Amino acid sequence: MTRLRPFAPEDLPSLYDVCVRTADAGGDARHLYPDQDLMPTIFLAPYVALDPSLAFVVDDGSRAVGYVIGTADTAEFVRRYRREWLPTVADRYPAPDSLTTPSEEMLALMHNPERMIVPELAAYPAHLHIDLLPEYQRKGLGRELMTAFLGALFERGVPAVHLGMVTVNVSARAFYDRLGFHVIDVPDAGVLTYLGRSTSPGC
Ligand SMILES: CC(C)(COP(=O)(O)OP(=O)(O)OC[C@H]1O[C@@H](n2cnc3c(N)ncnc32)[C@H](O)[C@@H]1OP(=O)(O)O)[C@@H](O)C(=O)NCCC(=O)NCCS
Repeated sequence: MTRLRPFAPEDLPSLYDVCVRTADAGGDARHLYPDQDLMPTIFLAPYVALDPSLAFVVDDGSRAVGYVIGTADTAEFVRRYRREWLPTVADRYPAPDSLTTPSEEMLALMHNPERMIVPELAAYPAHLHIDLLPEYQRKGLGRELMTAFLGALFERGVPAVHLGMVTVNVSARAFYDRLGFHVIDVPDAGVLTYLGRSTSPGC
């Protein structure tokens, strides 16, 4: 039996595991990054550190097997990421000197949170990440997580949310399309596609 519940600090090791197993365009990224904590340190931990009340997990009775995390205000998140989060990890993860390995590319992202401020996304102030372990996908749990996250944003009066997804992740794109997300045109988005939607339950 699975159940959806708010994030608790004890979930963190399980969520690191979910993150790294889904960090290569939705698939397992453990072969790409020798340091298994690298991807969660960029794409998971700052969210639960800076806004834990927007984090929800799916629990299988023994551990968290999926999550949705995010921020209500991307611009404020970026400011706090640089001021509060980056100093806590910069010793372990210094800025890279070159961009020759996948890890160095990710370290460059870690040290450039301002990349998240994109003018075309200004009307969608919130953003999110959502991931489930493979054996828990396609069972309606992603929809449940998203409903909880959108509901929490709506209650806070946040009108709209965006996300940036790796364009080759066509499975995730089918999920977002089904949940009412639309493409937001962002020039020079590189490998990413940006999607957005209102937080209103009727949409
Ligand atoms: C993407 C992800 C969060 C979706 O969650 P999920 O639990 O698998 O999706 P759900 O079962 O809740 O599906 C919700 C709806 O989307 C549809 N859907 C989901 N994945 C789909 C796919 N690959 N193809 C077609 N439709 C899909 C479902 O049919 C369902 O439609 P319905 O509710 O109208 O019947 C999950 O599959 C996942 O974690 N994938 C790996 C990590 C990842 O890619 N994360 C996103 C990175 S941007």
